[in-house]
Amino acid sequence: MPIPSRTQIGIVGAGPAGLVLSHLLHLQGIESVVIENRSRQYVEERVRAGVLEQGTVDLLTDTGVGERMKREGMVHHGIELRFHGRRHRIDFKDLTGGKGITIYSQHEVVKDLTNARLAAGGEVLFEVENVSVHDFDGSKPKIRYQKEGLDCELTCDFIAGCDGFHGICRPSIPAVVLAEYDRVYPFAWLGILAEAPPSSEELIYTYHDHGFALLSMRSEKISRLYLQCQPDEDINLWPDEKVWEELNTRLASAGWQLTQGPVIQKGVTGMRSFVVEPMQYGRLFLAGDSAHIVPPTGAKGLNLAVADVRVLARALAHFYTTGHHDLLDAYSQTCLRRVWKVQRFSWWMTSMLHRFPDENLFDRRRQVAELDYVTSSRAASQSLAENYVGLPMEW
Ligand code: FAD
Ligand code: PHB
Repeated sequence: MPIPSRTQIGIVGAGPAGLVLSHLLHLQGIESVVIENRSRQYVEERVRAGVLEQGTVDLLTDTGVGERMKREGMVHHGIELRFHGRRHRIDFKDLTGGKGITIYSQHEVVKDLTNARLAAGGEVLFEVENVSVHDFDGSKPKIRYQKEGLDCELTCDFIAGCDGFHGICRPSIPAVVLAEYDRVYPFAWLGILAEAPPSSEELIYTYHDHGFALLSMRSEKISRLYLQCQPDEDINLWPDEKVWEELNTRLASAGWQLTQGPVIQKGVTGMRSFVVEPMQYGRLFLAGDSAHIVPPTGAKGLNLAVADVRVLARALAHFYTTGHHDLLDAYSQTCLRRVWKVQRFSWWMTSMLHRFPDENLFDRRRQVAELDYVTSSRAASQSLAENYVGLPMEW
């Protein structure tokens, strides 16, 4: 395939943000090229998030890329909060007027989107090197990169920086125009993927003296489990037996049993809240993790990335059909309103469920009171539920 030198929207990064954006633009007749520095196989096998909000599910379904998700995804209408060994269900269906979440891996979403883009003749260039963005303060921004040793340049109308937290787009914006808001948590999650049927029909979030634990899943045969650990935890000190023993301790509840099985993947994920403002500069727009990171306790990272690009795709379509850039100008402001609410929810879930190194007994009593309140008050349960299934889009 010849290397493209011109497109309407140049997209850096083939994660959920970049691929959903390219797909939405295509449906509105807008051309894009996606530039990704990893291989297709790497991107399609990278284990990350697994919870899709109702709005994300609806978007994928309505735009024709939800067929496999509908077949293989697991629809849940609640979660369990467990503390002091007691189990409390938050019933999403009842509390949100019928909404739910779908368990379907991020890398499966990425596979479905990549297939859809390539089948529609879309251009997704994998394994490019030395990507850089230029001239986005003028009218002809450019993406430069190398492909198989060749220097390439792509001239675009706009650039979408969908290249994640460690990408090159955000650092390319002059530092003086950006404000960064950041919180690094004093703990991490040790996560395993295990060949074991999930021990619960729904996700279980647990508060325990030893720290937080989460039971999640990927399918009827695969469990995904997490333990709160040290931020610099040495994974080598966690043989499989020790992980299972600790999970058994933290998740313990009378009459309930954890099903174990071979561990097929193990890793440590750091916990951070981060937002950059504004999310745009000239003709460069940041979306997803390149603009903000949430701790995974609210299961929001992927969903927030999808919400950003919905706003961006709509603003770009409005520009190409009317010539007006009012929605593009408002992009950052529109996204940030919702981003900050999702940040608040992710921080709140994290604060309620984890042990903190500097906490005292007052803090611990307060955490338990919070859990007691959220599981006994309909108003509080409803607030958790409406955030968990996904806040509405605000255009
Ligand atoms: P990404 O998925 O990061 O995609 C960015 C893409 O850009 C990548 O494909 C990357 O290879 C590419 N790229 C980077 N730099 C360049 C460059 N210079 N040139 C070209 N391409 C580039 N969220 C949850 O809700 N639950 C979880 O359990 C969870 N677990 C996670 C575990 C890990 C290890 C990580 C890192 C994140 C996790 N998240 C989780 C967050 C969630 O996966 C992200 O919020 C989501 O991937 C954001 O999508 P994105 O498209 O914005 O960014
Ligand atoms: C996951 O299944 O990986 C998962 C689920 C819920 C979370 C975080 C991660 O809050």
